[in-house]
Amino acid sequence: MPAPAPRRLDSAAGTVYIYDEPGPACRDAADQIVACIHRAVAARGRANLGLATGGTPIPVYRRLVDRHRAGECSFAPVHTFNLDEFYPMSPCDPQSYRAYMHQRLFAPVDLPANQAHVLDGTVPEAAVAEHCAQFDRWIAEAGGLDLQLLGIGRNGHIGFNEPSELSVAEALALPTRRVPLHPMTTADAARDFGSTESVPLTALTVGVAPILAARTILVLAFGARKAEAVAGSLRGPITAACPGSLLQTVADRVVWLLDEPAAAGL
Ligand code: PGA
Repeated sequence: MPAPAPRRLDSAAGTVYIYDEPGPACRDAADQIVACIHRAVAARGRANLGLATGGTPIPVYRRLVDRHRAGECSFAPVHTFNLDEFYPMSPCDPQSYRAYMHQRLFAPVDLPANQAHVLDGTVPEAAVAEHCAQFDRWIAEAGGLDLQLLGIGRNGHIGFNEPSELSVAEALALPTRRVPLHPMTTADAARDFGSTESVPLTALTVGVAPILAARTILVLAFGARKAEAVAGSLRGPITAACPGSLLQTVADRVVWLLDEPAAAGL
């Protein structure tokens, strides 16, 4: 039986769909990614995807792999750019986002290894700034992101762009760079690392500017623990104190897929 259609909320801050369950939302997200790949490949011969990690998008990757196995989507012409990586971090470490992506998407599909880009947690300290700048150049030279898949942190972070006291103009201009992790982010990551002390103190993150430049931005948030960040992003003022609210500046390109508990504050 098909899942009930999501409820659409009209908001000047973005297009919002509210689902009864995360499952159908993730299924729709994956199907929109497949459609985006087909459109971009038809138009330009390639598709550029910005990808997210964390617990939220896991079912999205499962569905993408299923559609690949069903012969409905090839990743051969796809180039992917992940949002973030801990620093320092080995790609062989099971906690790394490179390992997460390898397991859930890169290995099961036909994506060429040199088209699957994740910020590198092994570059020497002195080379970090250049590596991050280079990542932004790769995205720009690829023609920009056709679609950015995004989650949101409990504190409103997007990627690892954490809340700050920057002006809105400064926050909107943030490039890809190394950042200290916010205590709430560290607490959430401790779940996977086993303890707070095991979580790296810093990470590399794609900046606010390249995220917001994507032609379509799909934001997923599920569960009551995300309600405050979702309300702050969609209802609150545009402020660097809630990085998700910066998405309001490109509202016509942002689609939010929520479940009822995450949408409770709207
Ligand atoms: P989560 O993380 O999907 O594990 O909740 C989202 C985020 O921090 O962006």
